[in-house]
Order: sequence, then structure tokens, then C-alpha cells
Amino acid sequence: MRINILAIESSCDETSAAVISDGKILNNIIATQSVHEKYGGVVPELASRAHQQHLIPVIHEAIQSSGIDKSQLSAIAFTKGPGLLGSLLVGVSFAKSFAYALGLPLIEVNHMQAHILAHFIDDPKPNFPFICLTVSGGHTQLVLVKDFLNMEIIGETTDDAVGEAFDKTAKLLGLPYPGGPLIDKYAKEGNPEAFRFPVSDMSGLNFSFSGIKTAVLYFLRDRIKENPSFIEDNLADICASIQFTLIKMLMQKLKKASKEYQIIEIAIAGGVSANSGLRNELANVAKKSGWNIYIPKFEYCTDNAAMIAMAAHYKFLKGEFSDLEVVPEARMKL
Ligand code: KG4
Ligand code: ZN
Repeated sequence: MRINILAIESSCDETSAAVISDGKILNNIIATQSVHEKYGGVVPELASRAHQQHLIPVIHEAIQSSGIDKSQLSAIAFTKGPGLLGSLLVGVSFAKSFAYALGLPLIEVNHMQAHILAHFIDDPKPNFPFICLTVSGGHTQLVLVKDFLNMEIIGETTDDAVGEAFDKTAKLLGLPYPGGPLIDKYAKEGNPEAFRFPVSDMSGLNFSFSGIKTAVLYFLRDRIKENPSFIEDNLADICASIQFTLIKMLMQKLKKASKEYQIIEIAIAGGVSANSGLRNELANVAKKSGWNIYIPKFEYCTDNAAMIAMAAHYKFLKGEFSDLEVVPEARMKL
């Protein structure tokens, strides 16, 4: 008997479903919510509503295109948290009802653990123990990954996530949400040392990203006073300089963690790991320091159900199932 699992992801603003068979991802269907663009950030009420609209068509497509019939499924997996409560509830409620109707076991998945386990979808796969820098819109964590389901946070942000810093500074530049990919795009044409922003240095392996938002706010205010079209005239240089500063802060701590733990197996995960500047810098440092680096495919960096399915596969193998009373957890710990 094959282990076939349907996995559902609905923690933020992507509605996604994927089917995994014996550890091999068969598909990864994602419906993105464009409704948030004009608000400069995810509007929780609108996100839950959009999940309600997208979830059944997305699941239908995932099952149909997998070539696996509902009767051949072994379990239903879902994101339990962390995330927006209203968004999570849509996925959790569907998963419970579907599992109940089909008489299948349920598997709850931690979204942050799943981002890391996305590394096991394709080759090359990292060797344990490895250090993963998980960087998304909601989290910035340095994680010591000892085994598939055994992970320890060794450093994290004390305020904003780095994805938030990308998105909030992009908003100050008048860019739509999510601004991270746009900063990445414009930065390619700019000079990263055109403008200097402060690099915060927290103790140990922790991060702080709230300072850069304020620094960029005052910087723009002063420059616009002198030149009202300062942003338009310097967009590429501003983006390159912001990105340079954020990457510097991330890499500082990643290098420190590698040294402290004597680990050269280094991975990145989460939405911000799609950033080309971060990928390049990681490759540069890897060459100098002899690191073996692991970077997920673009489609597995931002939120997706394939990573939930991968995590669910390992939980299935360990017999870790949930009961029907399970509820979502907005602030679920790793
Ligand atoms: O992992 P993810 O899809 O959702 C969360 O769990 O938060 O991450 C979304 C974050 C957003 O802040 C978005 O701006 C950022 O990832 N992001 C990027 C890039 N692509 C996505 N940030 C910088 N450069 C990119 N290329
Ligand atoms: Zn995520």
C-alpha cells in the first residue's frame, strides 16, 4: 500500500493543496490572493473569505491532477499554525470534515517546520544536523535541525520579521504588497552602497529589523524635502541599499551560528529565501567558508502545500496523528 496524503495550507494569503505519494510530491496547486495588494498588507478578514472561495476548487484540482482517487488516500494533512487564525480555521475545518467523511487519519503540521522540510522535496538534501535560516513575512529564525521532526530555535527576531521589513520599506516607497519581490527586482539595477542604513546588532543569535523601517522613513522624508521626486529618481539605488542592509544583518548571524555550532551544512527557507541578493551572498560566503548550501526551488520558498505534504509524510511514518478536537494555533511554537 502506498502512503498517499492530501495536504492543505491556508495560514496566510495563499490557498494551496498538494498530494504526496510515498514521499514524492505529485502536485502543488496554489491560488494567490491579489485582493490585498491595494491595502499594503494582508487584511485578515479578506484572507479568510478568499480561502473560503478558493479552497474547494484548489483541493479538487489537486486530487484530480494527482491521478489518485479519494478512496486511495491514507491521510489528510493541514497547517495547524502559526498564522492568521481566521485563515487557519478555514483549512483546519475542511481537513477535519474531509477526514471524518472519508474515515481517514488527520495530520497537523507546523508551518515553520514545513518551510524547512521543503528541502526534502528534491535533491540535493541537507545532512543532519544542519542550520536553517528561515525568513518569511512572519518569522526570522535560525534553527538547528537535528532530524526531520527534531528542531531547535537558536536565534530569532525580537521584533519585525525580515519579510515585514522588506514589505514595510517597500510600502514607504509606494510599492504594492508584497513589496519584497519588487525590492529584489529594482535592486538588481541599483548600487547597494549608494545610501547607508543602520545595521542593528542584537546580542547572541537574535535579530532586530524594526530600526530600518524608521531609518528609511526619516531618510525619505529628508530627501523628499530637497527633491520631491527623490524616490522616482533613485528607486533602484534605494532598493539595492535597503536589500544590502537586510542581507548583511541576516548573514552576520548566520555566520555566527555556523561558527558557534561548528556546522557547515547551511540551508535557507521561507518566502525571503527567494531573494536573489540573499541567494548570491549565501553562495559567496559558502565559497569562502566551505559551506554546503541548500536553497529551495522558488515555488517551495513562499507558502505552498507541497512543504506541508512533505512534513506530513514524515509524521505519518512516525505515526503522529491528531484527533478531531484539534484547533488551529496562531502562535504555534516550532
Ligand atoms: O513564507 P511566505 O510566503 O509567507 C509567510 O509565511 O510569511 O513569505 C512571504 C514573505 C513576504 O514578506 C514577501 O515580501 C517575501 O516573503 N518575499 C521576498 C521575495 N519573495 C517573497 N522578499 C524579498 N525578495 C523576494 N524575492
Ligand atoms: Zn510561510
